[in-house]
Amino acid sequence: MKTSYALKLTSLIAALVGTSCATEDAQQPLAASSRKPNIVFILSDDQDLHMDSLSYMPLLKKHLTDHGTTFQRHFCTNALCCPSRVSLWTGKAAHNTNVTDVNPPHGGYPKFISQGLNSAYLPIWLQDAGYSTYYVGKLFNAQTVDNYASPHAAGWTGSEFLLDPFTYEYLNATFQRNHELPVSYEARYSTDILAEKAYGFLDDGLREVAEKPFFLVVAPTAPHSNVHINEYIDGNFSEKSVIQSPPVPAERHKHLFAESKVPRTQHFNPDEPHGVSWISRLPKQNNTNTDFNDHFYRSRLRALQSVDEIIEGVTTRLEDAGVLDNTYIFYTTDNGYHIGQHRLQPGKQCAFEEDINIPLVVRGPGIPEGLTSNIVTTHTDLAPTLMQLAGADLRDDFDGTAIPLSTEGLQGAIDARQEHVNVEMWGIIMSEGNYGSVLYPNHTYKALRLLSKDYSYLYTVWCSGEHELYDLKVDPYEMHNLLTPELSDFTTTTTPGGVAEELTTEVFSSTSGSTAHMANNNTVVASMRHLVARLDSLLMVLKTCKARECTHPWETLHPDGSVRDLHDALHSDFDDFYETQQQRIEFTKCEKGYIAESEGPAGAKAWSVGARGGARWQDLV
Ligand SMILES: *[C@@H]1O[C@H](CO)[C@@H](O)[C@H](O)[C@H]1NC(C)=O
Ligand SMILES: *[C@@H]1O[C@H](CO)[C@@H](O)[C@H](O)[C@H]1NC(C)=O
Ligand SMILES: *[C@@H]1O[C@H](CO)[C@@H](O)[C@H](O)[C@H]1NC(C)=O
Ligand SMILES: *[C@@H]1O[C@H](CO)[C@@H](O)[C@H](O)[C@H]1NC(C)=O
Ligand SMILES: *[C@@H]1O[C@H](CO)[C@@H](O)[C@H](O)[C@H]1NC(C)=O
Ligand SMILES: *[C@@H]1O[C@H](CO)[C@@H](O)[C@H](O)[C@H]1NC(C)=O
Repeated sequence: MKTSYALKLTSLIAALVGTSCATEDAQQPLAASSRKPNIVFILSDDQDLHMDSLSYMPLLKKHLTDHGTTFQRHFCTNALCCPSRVSLWTGKAAHNTNVTDVNPPHGGYPKFISQGLNSAYLPIWLQDAGYSTYYVGKLFNAQTVDNYASPHAAGWTGSEFLLDPFTYEYLNATFQRNHELPVSYEARYSTDILAEKAYGFLDDGLREVAEKPFFLVVAPTAPHSNVHINEYIDGNFSEKSVIQSPPVPAERHKHLFAESKVPRTQHFNPDEPHGVSWISRLPKQNNTNTDFNDHFYRSRLRALQSVDEIIEGVTTRLEDAGVLDNTYIFYTTDNGYHIGQHRLQPGKQCAFEEDINIPLVVRGPGIPEGLTSNIVTTHTDLAPTLMQLAGADLRDDFDGTAIPLSTEGLQGAIDARQEHVNVEMWGIIMSEGNYGSVLYPNHTYKALRLLSKDYSYLYTVWCSGEHELYDLKVDPYEMHNLLTPELSDFTTTTTPGGVAEELTTEVFSSTSGSTAHMANNNTVVASMRHLVARLDSLLMVLKTCKARECTHPWETLHPDGSVRDLHDALHSDFDDFYETQQQRIEFTKCEKGYIAESEGPAGAKAWSVGARGGARWQDLV
């Protein structure tokens, strides 16, 4: 049954349309001091923003949030550890790194190496910019006790990598220092060992700081689940050999948060299933299951306490050394996490908000203190951001842009920065906990998250042929798919708008010439068909975009610069262009990796004036 579904958006002033934004790429030179700033980058593993984990980290608040800027619309572009980390350290979307999984053949450290990325990622560029570079913790999955030296990860002045198959063993981790042999730390607490090692490198950096700035990455595995790998052959993991259990806290934190539970939001273990593909077939969880998952949740919060302590340890040491004022500290994670929302067992990899919208807090010279910014930022923006801080030239193959870190830059970005996030996933989904061991195939999708002050959408096209559209302005928990899910796994629907043509969406305030009709309350009602056609074309550009196209995809569709966002694109002059001239995203097959031949048409047509006659949008305003 299809229900009519209207969505509301606050009015958008017509005068705003077409204003151009000179400040767009203006990043302020940051360090007032002549010395290059130091950078400490703390990267947790699988940490959520949406289940309140940050409110359990008082030292993060005290040292970073209160003294820095929180980016509450920060997203990973692939909600899985290894692909996300490779995108983070290369500044490239997963479709351009082709590291799309955690293990070979499509992902993991061996794939990072075989893609040639070991000579083209951030630490190397920062060394070129004059930095000492240090890394402690998990770099990539499938960097193992067997393959760590063939070759070594390049670019680090000092490194202590956590190695598989012991990376996620909280009480039996293996670290591997510089070019030395791996060392096993049986019965010692992984995050605490990691902290000591991080402070050691910090001391190394501080000793030389008068001559050389440093970049230190601290990458604990918390709050990732504990993973014990039974059967492990030469860097290859069999799916059956992995035993997941709740993360293990340090002894001193075991008693904490006994009453805490996963927030019981509307979408937590709902009575009605929703979503598409395998998600729509998940059973409702019984009490045994939700009790266990609450325990899992508490274990995560407890494991995070040791990470919180590291934030204080690092900040205090920087302060004591007198360099805190010339050091940027970043706090983020690789991807988000869900427990129970949409009936999902603990895990990640979905395009739902829990998995993609993640913590990012930054403090440092010139950054506004205690500010929460709404600008849209992604993990592919971080390598450019760090390069800019280091005074290095930005590479022209970055798929992201530097995040502004000054008051003026942040202000200018409010209207100028992109409103989209391109989210990608390939292969199977692995869920965790006692009830989540089932591995579901066909978890390949392309997703587009669009956020502006007037609209907020998630649009997803699955390899099964299913489509999803959520309007988060009225449906913040993503429970009402506006595009009727097809129940079969594989449909040939290629006009997503077509299945929902009678649905309408109240998109924009009155602007002359906008597509669809004006309601008497000064809002424009656009048909779903108009909206979905634009989203599909935008995603078509993004799914194979490179470099600037990834941040400015509307330029590909409208090279004359007349369209800068979804609002502009909804002009009725473009109805035919989007609805009949463009091809639609479709897959011919569900694959476990990025096999271009199975991913249907690629590339979008460009609008040209005169092609369809008609006035240009700007002429009408
Ligand atoms: C491990 O996987 C690689 C492909 O990624 C394969 O070449 C190799 O033979 C496998 N090794 C074992 C022991 O299965
Ligand atoms: C990505 O890598 C896989 C192997 O992991 C390969 O088969 C595929 O062709 C690559 N895709 C692209 C687009 O290069
Ligand atoms: C800890 O890891 C080492 C290998 O690093 C292994 O030999 C040992 O059996 C493990 N201990 C336990 C208790 O699992
Ligand atoms: C609860 O659900 C789990 C997972 O489906 C199942 O294994 C278990 O038997 C159920 N327990 C009860 C008491 O129904
Ligand atoms: C505006 O009018 C439309 C159509 O009559 C209605 O569906 C919608 O709810 C109204 N919106 C507001 C904000 O009142
Ligand atoms: C996964 O997709 C393939 C087509 O790409 C199909 O043959 C297969 O049945 C699907 N598997 C499941 C479990 O849905």
